[in-house]
Amino acid sequence: MSAPTLRLGSKAPNFQSETSNGPIDFYEFAGDQWVVLFSHPDDFTPVCTTELGAFAKLEPEFTKRGAKLLGLSANKPDSHRAWIKDINELSQTNLSFPIVADPERKVAHLYDMIDYQDATNVDDKGVQFTIRSVFIIDPKKTIRLIISYPASTGRNTAEVLRVLDSLQLGDKNRVTTPINWTPGDDVIVHPTVSNDEAKTLFPKFKIVKPYLRFTPLEVEQDIRNTYKSKL
Ligand code: BEZ
Repeated sequence: MSAPTLRLGSKAPNFQSETSNGPIDFYEFAGDQWVVLFSHPDDFTPVCTTELGAFAKLEPEFTKRGAKLLGLSANKPDSHRAWIKDINELSQTNLSFPIVADPERKVAHLYDMIDYQDATNVDDKGVQFTIRSVFIIDPKKTIRLIISYPASTGRNTAEVLRVLDSLQLGDKNRVTTPINWTPGDDVIVHPTVSNDEAKTLFPKFKIVKPYLRFTPLEVEQDIRNTYKSKL
């Protein structure tokens, strides 16, 4: 069966699944919130253990931005619950968001998370690994970010939060965000905004090149402060 192809802008498919917190319907779970969905190939894997702990620690920041966390791993709920005990012990946290139980990799397949299969990309049963993906899905269920990580490299929760902040800022204002931007830094005036419009919308905007115009943009103190501490 060929995998569906999901791209930025695709509608996130709905699914029903067991999770570490009981059954969910994805759309009902999401409601009108943003969702950060991130996947793992197996419980009790070392890199993934550290990642789940870090996401659990940062959950209040996602909540503040109207985003829900949803993990996924290709094991059953009892295994997830046992793994969560380890995660909490090791990261000194209290992971409470659900982890989708996907032992048959149905959701992993639906979301096109399965890695390219080659001779090395199999577990001890010969099944291909679930790709280690991060999706940001907006309240309209549109996929706004897809990142795939190799098993060897732990994800960066601060980067996921930063992309969420950029997307939310760009949805509210006609701006984009430059390289390594964090909230409070100058932003880029969107190319569709004429200079005349920019004079009204962004009175302090500066033209660096005709195609590159920067402007300061007020961001809530609370959001800016997140980036002052080590995330
Ligand atoms: C991990 O360390 O989390 C991991 C190991 C093998 C495959 C995928 C993840």
